[in-house]
Amino acid sequence: MGSPTVAPCDVVVFGGTGDLAVRKLLPALYQRHRDGQLAQDTRILACSRAGLDDAGYRDKIAGELPRFVPTDDLEPEAAERFLRRLEHVTLDLDEAEGWTVLADRIQRTGPGRVRVYYLACAPGLFGTISARLAEHGLIDDRSRVVLEKPIGHDLASAREINNAVGAVFEESQIFRIDHYLGKETVQNLLVTRFANSFLEPLWSSTAIDHVQITVAESLGVGTRGDYYDGSGALRDMVQNHLLQLLCLVAMEPPTQVDRESVRDEKLKVLNALRPVTEEDAHRVTVAGQYSAGLVDGAAVPSYAADCGRPETRTETFVALKVEVQNWRWAGVPFYLRTGKRMDRRSSEIVIQFKPVPHPMFPGAEGTNEPNRLVIRLQPDEGMQLHLTAKEPGPGGIRLRPVSLDLDYAHAFRRRSPEAYERLLMDVVRGNPTLFMRRDEVEAAWAWVEPVLAAWQSAGKPSHRYPAGTPGPFAATTLIERDGRSWYEGNTP
Ligand code: BG6
Repeated sequence: MGSPTVAPCDVVVFGGTGDLAVRKLLPALYQRHRDGQLAQDTRILACSRAGLDDAGYRDKIAGELPRFVPTDDLEPEAAERFLRRLEHVTLDLDEAEGWTVLADRIQRTGPGRVRVYYLACAPGLFGTISARLAEHGLIDDRSRVVLEKPIGHDLASAREINNAVGAVFEESQIFRIDHYLGKETVQNLLVTRFANSFLEPLWSSTAIDHVQITVAESLGVGTRGDYYDGSGALRDMVQNHLLQLLCLVAMEPPTQVDRESVRDEKLKVLNALRPVTEEDAHRVTVAGQYSAGLVDGAAVPSYAADCGRPETRTETFVALKVEVQNWRWAGVPFYLRTGKRMDRRSSEIVIQFKPVPHPMFPGAEGTNEPNRLVIRLQPDEGMQLHLTAKEPGPGGIRLRPVSLDLDYAHAFRRRSPEAYERLLMDVVRGNPTLFMRRDEVEAAWAWVEPVLAAWQSAGKPSHRYPAGTPGPFAATTLIERDGRSWYEGNTP
């Protein structure tokens, strides 16, 4: 069954020929079109400096879609009709001419229409674009602006961007995207926690020993070396994606899952994170950079070679021990790690429960492993509950770890939409629940900044790890020092 159609709208993409638009936004819009969710007269206006007319842009996208849409989903007739929605405006931000053309194109559909301005371009341009949209009278109460990360590279620059965009858009019109919040399993985390009654009594330091959040990538930095080298894993992944995941695990039950309540609760978690000091940065943080190695059997170069900067000290891996200073989580560490060129692509949240308080089966063979709830974000979205069971057989008792498995693809027998599909439709519907509010983004920067500062002054605790491995040994030490170990996906 198709999803309900959203209001007719204009989606105006700045950076219309860029990587994000081509790889993620247009394929996501195509999927929504194919599903019947875009109203008939919805238009997609791409802006770039490419000097293309509508036909040239449609040809370009016709050539790109097969690379980013699964073959089975690319239906010639649907694709043809989708391409007809596309228009292209050649725009140099500083030249009046392009803006006049854009304003004319936008205003063709008349007032009162939902207009989504998607800024899929460098954050340094967010303020200028917002100001120009206002100057040309292109903003009204039905307009919305979508900001792609990174929103700044520290607290001051994030504030500057927020101020500039906030000068012409109301906060309720600003959608700061963190695509992790659009992932099915991430949303399911909310449902699992708050639509089931048995978990809540267990969801605290009473029963939980610690939490692990891992976002491992096997890819390197590809063609994004220029951006990435000025950023690094802490800014690129932790400040946003990993902290957002942590918030969803740690937050108190909101009154309702609605636009402000969820974000209020996430903000409280960010404000409760124990600040990392210069003194303990070496104990609770690890930074690493990949050297040359083997990924899936193929030799790959080092990060320094990938980004063409032999002296670079940018981290491609981070591990952190984080504490949430509140009643619920006192004494429960959250171990976070993320890296590029690791041994596999795998993102997981692991809730590890405390061991049984008293060994009840003294003579039993086998081990009484701790219970774990493993939430697999990707690949193969799903959830596992690790339990200890008795292995069938006569005679004595043999304990065996087993797993209750929920495999999304199998349980629901349908394609999980890409994060951007859900999020784009939420923007059109004007639902910001899964987007970051200004105070959240700034609170996340406020927590990350001291780590950056400690690395700057005390020297980054930087370790090399060969591409294709689980990261530097120091990350293993970080958790093993506490008598715990990383969960490496070993299903019982
Ligand atoms: C982006 C980061 O936000 O997320 C990238 O900038 C990273 O460096 C990507 O590769 C990971 O997203 P996903 O959905 O592939 O896990």
